[in-house]
Amino acid sequence: MRTRITELFGIRHPIIQGGMHYVGFADLAAAVSNAGGLGIITALTQRTPEALANEIRRCREMTDAPFGVNLTFLPALAQPDYPGYIRAIIEGGVKIVETAGNNPQKWMPVLKEAGIKVIHKCTSVRHALKAEAIGCDAVSVDGFECGGHPGEDDVPNFILLPRAAEELRVPFVASGGMADGRSLVAALALGAEGMNMGTRFIATREAPVHENVKQAIVAASELDTRLVMRPLRNTERVLTNTAVERLLDKERQLGSALRFEDIAAEVAGVYPRIMKEGEMDAGAWSCGMVAGLIHDVPTVQELIDRIMAQAESLIRQRLGAMLEQ
Ligand SMILES: Cc1cc2nc3c(=O)[nH]c(=O)nc-3n(C[C@H](O)[C@H](O)[C@H](O)COP(=O)(O)O)c2cc1C
Repeated sequence: MRTRITELFGIRHPIIQGGMHYVGFADLAAAVSNAGGLGIITALTQRTPEALANEIRRCREMTDAPFGVNLTFLPALAQPDYPGYIRAIIEGGVKIVETAGNNPQKWMPVLKEAGIKVIHKCTSVRHALKAEAIGCDAVSVDGFECGGHPGEDDVPNFILLPRAAEELRVPFVASGGMADGRSLVAALALGAEGMNMGTRFIATREAPVHENVKQAIVAASELDTRLVMRPLRNTERVLTNTAVERLLDKERQLGSALRFEDIAAEVAGVYPRIMKEGEMDAGAWSCGMVAGLIHDVPTVQELIDRIMAQAESLIRQRLGAMLEQ
């Protein structure tokens, strides 16, 4: 399948693995890129720029195909060493960066000077237009369904994607709620040039997370996610568990008086315990509503092959047949 996204990034299939904290290690990124998609290493999971440089080297040892690095700009008390991470990306020869969380304008000149293609992930048409205006090469449009941070506008992809198509000139991929060939064909129909998946890629054999995490996704239905941190305007969609229910109780009790410190026990620094140790009630972790469509733990290659075969059959047979009578 050729789209503006496969052309832009030099990949075989229009499927991107979004940056994921404590999931987006070289192992998963290389598996996705080897299967013809675009794998992405998550910079901030690496404690230092040196560690990121090492992770980039490790990924390059596992794949000859293009891969990218995610740079997330989230509200953090101590600002990470972004210049250092960007240096590691440039010196590591990475040519694709996924930015997210905040406007990447400040970093665009140095990224563009290094010949890096930037895809910015955002949750609204106005932010997508801003990304286009500051020189991003593509946008990942993240609907309300998505795992992680869906923003505060609550517009689902059936509206958000065609709205993006009405306004954008740069190519965009659909993100949030994407799981299979049906998602891909629907995304293309709504104007996207491919899709970005998070949650679906966690439930794969190569995802370097504890088996409990994969099984929790398989067991979950589309009703099992919750929105946390709404009162802080830092909304995150997570899989429900006892820590999340406790967090939501605090939000209800404290109302607009809620501060980050009140819920730090449930959200700060919990990822290693969940993703590495498999302590599923240790805190809140991002997960999309798409969990309801995830029923197995295939290899990344099996997953991507299946998506592309289903997409082709949907286009050629199901949709084609509707026109042929
Ligand atoms: C466990 C997890 C961690 C994530 N961490 C990040 C992150 O650090 N930076 C980022 O830009 N997006 C992050 N995301 C969002 C994904 O890259 C992607 O946009 C999102 O998962 C798409 O929605 P989906 O889960 O419905 O496929 C994360 C998602 C999950 C599920």
